[in-house]
Formats: sequence, C-alpha cells, structure tokens
Amino acid sequence: MTDIFATVTAPSVASRPVRRRRLALRHHATSPAWARTFRDRFPFRPRASVTGATYTGAVTSAAIDGAGPGRRPPGTPRENLGGAAGILRRVFGYDSFRGPQLEIIEHLVGGGDALVLMPTGGGKSLCYQIPALIRPGTGVVVSPLIALMQDQVDALLALGVRAGFLNSTQLPDQRRAMEAEFLAGELDLLYLAPERLRSESTLRLLDRGRIGLFAIDEAHCVSQWGHDFRPDYLALSALHERWPSVPRIALTATATRATRAEIASRLNLESARHFVASFDRPNIRYRIEPKAEPLRQLLTLLRAEHPGDAGIVYCLSRASVEKTADFLTRNGITALPYHAGLAARTRTANQSRFLRQDGLVMVATIAFGMGIDKPDVRFVAHLDLPKSVEGYYQETGRAGRDGLPATAWLGYGLADVVLQRRLIDSSEGDLAHRRRQSAHLDAMLALCETVQCRRAQLLGYFGESAEPCGNCDTCLSPAQTWDGTIAAQKLLSAVLRLHRERGQRYGAGQVVDILLGRKTPKVIENDHASLTVFGIGEELRESEWRGVVRQLLAQGLLAVVGDYGTLALTKASGSVLSGQRQVLLRREPEPAARARARARASRPDMDPAAELAPAAAARFERLRAWRAAAAREQGVPAYVIFHDATLRQIAAQPPATLAELAGISGVGDAKLARYGEQILDVLAEAES
Ligand SMILES: Nc1ncnc2c1ncn2[C@@H]1O[C@H](COP(=O)(O)OP(=O)(O)OP(=O)(O)O)[C@@H](O)[C@H]1O
Ligand SMILES: [Mg+2]
Ligand SMILES: [Zn+2]
Repeated sequence: MTDIFATVTAPSVASRPVRRRRLALRHHATSPAWARTFRDRFPFRPRASVTGATYTGAVTSAAIDGAGPGRRPPGTPRENLGGAAGILRRVFGYDSFRGPQLEIIEHLVGGGDALVLMPTGGGKSLCYQIPALIRPGTGVVVSPLIALMQDQVDALLALGVRAGFLNSTQLPDQRRAMEAEFLAGELDLLYLAPERLRSESTLRLLDRGRIGLFAIDEAHCVSQWGHDFRPDYLALSALHERWPSVPRIALTATATRATRAEIASRLNLESARHFVASFDRPNIRYRIEPKAEPLRQLLTLLRAEHPGDAGIVYCLSRASVEKTADFLTRNGITALPYHAGLAARTRTANQSRFLRQDGLVMVATIAFGMGIDKPDVRFVAHLDLPKSVEGYYQETGRAGRDGLPATAWLGYGLADVVLQRRLIDSSEGDLAHRRRQSAHLDAMLALCETVQCRRAQLLGYFGESAEPCGNCDTCLSPAQTWDGTIAAQKLLSAVLRLHRERGQRYGAGQVVDILLGRKTPKVIENDHASLTVFGIGEELRESEWRGVVRQLLAQGLLAVVGDYGTLALTKASGSVLSGQRQVLLRREPEPAARARARARASRPDMDPAAELAPAAAARFERLRAWRAAAAREQGVPAYVIFHDATLRQIAAQPPATLAELAGISGVGDAKLARYGEQILDVLAEAES
C-alpha cells in the first residue's frame, strides 16, 4: 500500500534522482517525477489546520519524520487511512459507495478474482483503484483507451494517486522513466495498452516489479461477437498462467448473459465471483420521438432544453456526422465532428477539446465515447436508430455521469427501420449472425414502440425488473394506443394486391400514395388507381400511415426485401388479414402535442434541487470561471479539478472553513490541500 497522504504533505522531496515523466513537466528537473507532480500540484500545507483532529496519525508522522513521499516509512499503519471507506473519503472525496463497489473492493483486497458488470458511468474504476491503493504492489490496468490514458492518469495524479501509463504514444525515454518508477515500487496504478502485453519485454518488466492486481477494463473487447472486439484482448488469458497468485478483475458495461459467459471463458474467469450491479441510471430522462425533420428537432431540443450544455450527437454515417456538425455550427452551436474517416490527429484534437472546454457538442459515429469520463455531458442524442439496445444503453450512459439530470433523446422513423433491415439482409455474416443482428434490431424497435415505461423496458432487457420510472417520455405523457387492425389490414392488402395482381413490389411511399388515393405521376404511369385498394385509406394522414408501416415492420407483421427496401408480407401477416389478430398501435404525436410534451419535459421540474437560487447561481459562475482558469493553466480538463456537481454544492451551501469544505462530495484531501483556500477566496470575493 501507499501512503498517499504522506506524499501530499511531505515537505522534503527535492533531493531524489531525476526522472522524467512527461514532457510538459520537464522544466522541473530537480526532483523526481512523482514528487514534482505532487509538490507542484499539492504544495505542502499543514494538515492539522485543514481538518483539525479528524485525520492525523500516519500522515503527520510521515511528514514529521521527513520520510518523503513514495517511500512509505516502515511500519506506517495502513489502518490510519480508514481502509476502503477512508480512501473513498480522503482520496476521492466521496461519502458512500455505489451499489456493490465496497463488496467488490473487499473481495479483491482479499485476493479474489472478480467479473464486474456495471452500467456506463456506474463507477467501475473505483473497484480496482481502491484495491490498488490498499494491496502491496502496483495495480496494472489493461485498457484499450490509449487516447484517454493521459487524461485518466492526470485525473488520478490530481487526487494524489501515483499513476502512470505505458503505450505507443510515448517517447522511449518517457517509457523508460515510467518503467523505472514501476520497478522502484513508486506506482499505485499502471495503465497498459493491451498490445504491450504481447511483447515479451513488457512481460519481463512486470516480472521484475511487484504487481498488486490486474484490472481488465472494457472486458467486452474480448468478445468476438461484441461491438468492440480487440484481438489483443485474447492474449489476456495468459495473465493468470504467468501470475497465478495476482487477483484479477474484469469490468464491462455490456450486460447480456451471453457476453458475460464469453468474457468469463475467454479470460479464464469462470471461477471468479461475478458482481452484477443494477443497470438503472435514474437521472437520465429517456425520450424517443418519431423523426420528422431530424435536424430541426435536434436544434429545438438543444435550444429549448440544453442551451450551452455539453452533449453528444450520434449519427450512423460519416457523411451525416459532417452534415449535422455543419448544421449546428451554422446555427450558432459549437459542434465538432468525430468519425473514423478523420485524420487521427484531428480526432484526438476534437476529443481533447470536447473534454476540456465547457459546453461543446460532439457529433460522432459510435467510434466515439468508450471510456470517456466527462461527468457533465448533459445530453446524448441519436439521430439514427442504434443497432442494438446494448449499444444504445452504453451510448446514452455517457450522459449525466455526475448524477445530475440529463437527457437521452432518440429520433427514429420508418426509413431507419427499412435501412437497418436492408443492412442485415445484405450483411456478410452467416445465417446465425444475421439472426442475431435481427434479434438485436427487434429489441431496439420494441423499445421505440413500447407504450410502457422506457426504463422498465430497458432494464427488462438486461434481466432487471422495474416499476414505471416517472422520468421517461411514456411515464411523463403516457402514449395513446389505438386499434389499428383495420388500418393494418388495408395496408397489408395493398401490398398483397400489388404483388398478386401486378407482380410488383413497392416501398412505403408508393403504397401510402395508393391508400391515400393520390394521382401522382408514378400512380398514373403504373395504373395503380384501378386497384381496389386505391383511396381506401383517406382517414389517416400520410405521417400516420408511415407510422403504421413502421410499427408493422417493428412488430414483424410486414417485412422489407431487396436493395430498394420494398415491402412484403411475412408469415404473421396472414393472421391480421384474416381478422384473427388484433393490432394495437401507438398513436403518432401531433406536432403541437410534441411541443407540449417537450415543454413539460424541460429541465426545471426534473430536479428542483438542481436549480440554484440567484445568489448561489452567481457563486457557481464565479467558481466555474476560477476552475476554467485553473484548468487552462494546468492543461487538464476542468472536471479534473472539480466536477460541476461539486461546484454546485459549494455554491448552494458555501462553506466558511476548510473543514466545512472537506465535507462536500468530491473534495478529497489532495484537492482540499491544493484548492481549499482558493475556493474560500472565490467565495469571499463573491460576497463582497
Ligand atoms: N461512490 C461514488 N460516489 C460518487 N461518485 C462516484 C462514486 N463512484 C464513482 N463515482 C463517479 O462516477 C463517475 C463514473 O465512474 P467511472 O468512470 O468509474 O464509470 P465506469 O463504470 O467505468 O463507466 P464506463 O463504462 O463508461 O467506463 C466518475 O465521475 C466517478 O468519479
Ligand atoms: Mg470505465
Ligand atoms: Zn418511465
């Protein structure tokens, strides 16, 4: 274990050999990397004046006997940190564990292996970070997220945790410096890109140091059927053979039973204890709307409910990413594109801007977002239908990691269903693969068309039962259903007659024109006005007919075939045509009703506590300005300094002393020591 508190408070750190960690820190070449980091970031302040009698013991004695950081003085009693709960409070600044975090930590500290399933943003990182601080040796974290390692490490350093990484982005001397720190036992956590473990030299390096645990993050990357397969992950089963006594923890937010079994078998974790947390993310408001003018709908959402907020907009294709980012920018919203077609440098720059600046919108394909720990993403919008509920839930989970209200909005329409069905039909995989994709799409469509609580439906998909949540669109304005049996019969018989009587297949547009009795050039040219079904559907509007088509497709009562997405009957269609089966449909909201629902669903009534009184709001803005300046100066994302939720709480109940400030969630020892007085100054200025 590591005495991070001695590290924070120790006064004499300047006399150790030089090691370089990061280019950015080179100018401090007179003290070792970790000591520099701590001294620069957390200049020594006597602890006693900070928290009074609460925390003393190891911290003070280490400081007094000048043992220096990193090298924990022999015999420093570990219990002085208060075990896992003490570390949660003092390092991370949080009051209580979430879900099974504590159980997992204790299991790992005791040497057990674990497989952890928790939703996106659920708090998986603490499950290995705290054991790494408690167990002797370094916690080795395998993560595919190379582009995020620097940020992850920066965030840990800011908390006073000694962390580093090894990946291909480093210069040789940076890598060597990091290896030396690891070998000297000076790292609590070492992040490794999976491909590093393929090289014998890395394995030998690990042999020579002391490993406290292995954490395999984003463990679903080992699943060949999953959406993020990384071949390097397959090699991770070897960890257990080489270091049988080192506990391993694999973590993922991909929840289905099948993926879980595959992870366990591929990583040799069958006998590990499995921890499955609730997948509920109650602060996210789920909303799914039929798509009419998607870009306009998106703009209205952003302007009406999320002005100035950071958010992510997911699109299916690179082209629509570009188009959407352009559209938003033209409409005064700063939006950045992200997709695999952009140069790596541009992608990294855009990601880094999104993480660092407040209030940017990232328009991206699903290539973006895994492992992004930006806490204040206020909305995730989908302009196209996601391919699976798993993917959708992971993407939307990137909203509201700070626990404050957030929106997940999805616009979807008939064209999405047609496109997805066609993609599956024309996909390369074998039949089993296509069936699986089809099942994924059906589950996604069922979510879109449900008249029940969206959350209950989502959680049900992950095997969890839930009551209506009160925080999704169907709970807030219950969906109306209507008996669509006759409409369905009309539509199906139009499709049937076109095929039987004319040997023709058409897409939804022509079929709807026929039902509405429209004499379009295409109708005239094909003599479709002479069909008995011509004009039998004038009781519904065009958008309603498209809704019928969409819902019949979703229910499997209609199919699309061929390259042009033409409509065809399915085995189940017959029971509708013969009147044996009733068809219940969800009523398409009228544009005005939609606007009303939106007004109701806007933020103020969502969580009144989240709204600040004017004086508090003014303090909040000052705190944010201070944070922005501090973040710029250090070149780190603002949330590495403090989360919005923490600043909000400080603004709402301004602390008068450091001890009071220490009681606020998100304020751990290192940040208290580093920023406490600055915060009090900002508050004092705000009052004057
Ligand atoms: N016990 C806790 N109390 C308060 N906040 C917490 C707690 N545990 C974690 N958090 C915060 O929740 C956020 C999400 O945590 P984390 O990054 O570990 O999520 P994750 O489960 O790894 O998600 P992902 O699947 O996206 O990687 C972080 O900002 C973290 O600081
Ligand atoms: Mg994570
Ligand atoms: Zn609900």
